[in-house]
Amino acid sequence: MTLAPVDATATDAWRTLHELSDGFTPDLRRWFADEPERPATLSYSAADLHVDLSKSLLTPEVLAALLDLAGQVGVAERRDAMLGGEHINVTEDRAVLHTALRLPEDATLEVDGQDVVGDVHEVLRRVYAFAERVRSGDWTGVTGRRIRTVVNIGIGGSDLGPVMAYEALEPYHQDGLECRFISNIDPTDAATTLKRLDPETTLFIVSSKTFGTLETLTNARLCKAWLLDGLRGSDPGSDDDVAVAKHFVAVSTALDKVAEFGIDPANAFGFWDWVGGRYSMDSAIGTSLVVAIGPERFAELLAGMHAMDEHFRTSAPERNVPLLMGLLNIWYADFLGAQTHAVLPYSQLLHRFPAYLQQLTMESNGKGVRWDGSPVTAGTGEVFWGEPGTNGQHAFYQLIHQGTRLIPADFIAFANPAHALRDGETDVHELFLANFFAQTQALAFGKTADEVRAEGTREEIVPARVFTGNRPTASIMAPALTPSVLGQLIALYEHITFTEGVVWGIDSFDQWGVELGKQLAQQLSPAVSGDGSVAAEQDASTQALIAYYREHREG
Ligand code: F6P
Repeated sequence: MTLAPVDATATDAWRTLHELSDGFTPDLRRWFADEPERPATLSYSAADLHVDLSKSLLTPEVLAALLDLAGQVGVAERRDAMLGGEHINVTEDRAVLHTALRLPEDATLEVDGQDVVGDVHEVLRRVYAFAERVRSGDWTGVTGRRIRTVVNIGIGGSDLGPVMAYEALEPYHQDGLECRFISNIDPTDAATTLKRLDPETTLFIVSSKTFGTLETLTNARLCKAWLLDGLRGSDPGSDDDVAVAKHFVAVSTALDKVAEFGIDPANAFGFWDWVGGRYSMDSAIGTSLVVAIGPERFAELLAGMHAMDEHFRTSAPERNVPLLMGLLNIWYADFLGAQTHAVLPYSQLLHRFPAYLQQLTMESNGKGVRWDGSPVTAGTGEVFWGEPGTNGQHAFYQLIHQGTRLIPADFIAFANPAHALRDGETDVHELFLANFFAQTQALAFGKTADEVRAEGTREEIVPARVFTGNRPTASIMAPALTPSVLGQLIALYEHITFTEGVVWGIDSFDQWGVELGKQLAQQLSPAVSGDGSVAAEQDASTQALIAYYREHREG
């Protein structure tokens, strides 16, 4: 049975946190001087991740109150309800079981009378067998040529996870086999992605949980037309159905709709309504990734995710990293006024990780009502954003260092580079990591006016060169960006998001907020194409904008 949300703001812990935040003046310089053991006390292990929260704005009192808050709102109970398959996604009446996607084969979990682990591994076996056929060249295009490019067509959770992981695991890609991704309904996306591809060696994976998403189905039709046109050019007698069967596979929970689209159900991989779109990259939605890195590496990614799930499930609250990081975000957002949260990977390979996290965190926790329909009682859902270091340093770090807003930031780095290069005597990865270490140091400890003066700075510009410090960061490190470590990072943020959602009492697994825009786009569409009566039904601004479009559209 789903537990009713506890109003976090009515708990004793929330009151304590309020008292602690009143006049809170962090002083990381003093805290470090007074407590030499601070880095050790506030550093944690979670699977292979080393997480240092010592440069965060935590005091022992704040930490104790945050842990009390977790207890008083029932984070552990709700976590167990999720892991056990209860329908905690109440507005859609669904279980939330992305964690089941990475359970080992010998685990058992029955949900709603169904053997979930058996189902998951059966689909995995099929995906793995398909991927092996493509990788080995056994699966060919209709003209008998080997597949060289796999194009994933999907959007949101059916795109962001696979792209992010494909980019992140570049060192593990099979040579001679490339993946590309089409998501946007902007026709430029399909046009540019298909440029210079050979239809004879291209395979499409249509990925859509619902198989009803406008963008994905439109792009799939565009790709089908491109394929068939191209093939007719090289083989005028080719049979369209046979060509589609050899060049299109699908991933969906709606296998009936896959068949309607014309894709052979034998070439479709299923998943289940208890996997949310943004939590689905480790389901068959990751098929493009399996093709790129191979089943063995994908299994390592799943094992990494499972290791983090186990950490979240079994670690004591005071050593439980996702729990602590989620609670810390509550402290920043609801007590210290942070509106946004930066994620700054010092790894070029993780350049799509912030974008991936945007859907995970904001589609999950950008809600104004709780899971019983009552209004939320505190601010919810920080804006997540970021870019890889050091590019960000030369763009927006100015504001993080000296601006007026509090921006907690997670810094992520790896001891070993994916590509080790030397610049003469210099190990370039070490130069890179020096930046990683320097940034969190500068943000935490700043530079006083006296220190600026001591450098001989003219008095008039001293204020401009002062760094206040006390700007919070978390440092996350791991030996290397392996598939397992990537899995651990993903699951870490899934559980951070979950923790925050429980404190706010919201259903982190629905996404009703995306519906209105989709509905209006459908209604408006005839007006865009010139239907004056539909245009006349719109508000004055929209009418004028459509008129502008129609006046300026050429051709
Ligand atoms: O528009 C939001 C959304 O429903 C996401 O939650 C989802 O990841 C995305 O659309 C794509 O949905 P589908 O996989 O069903 O095509």
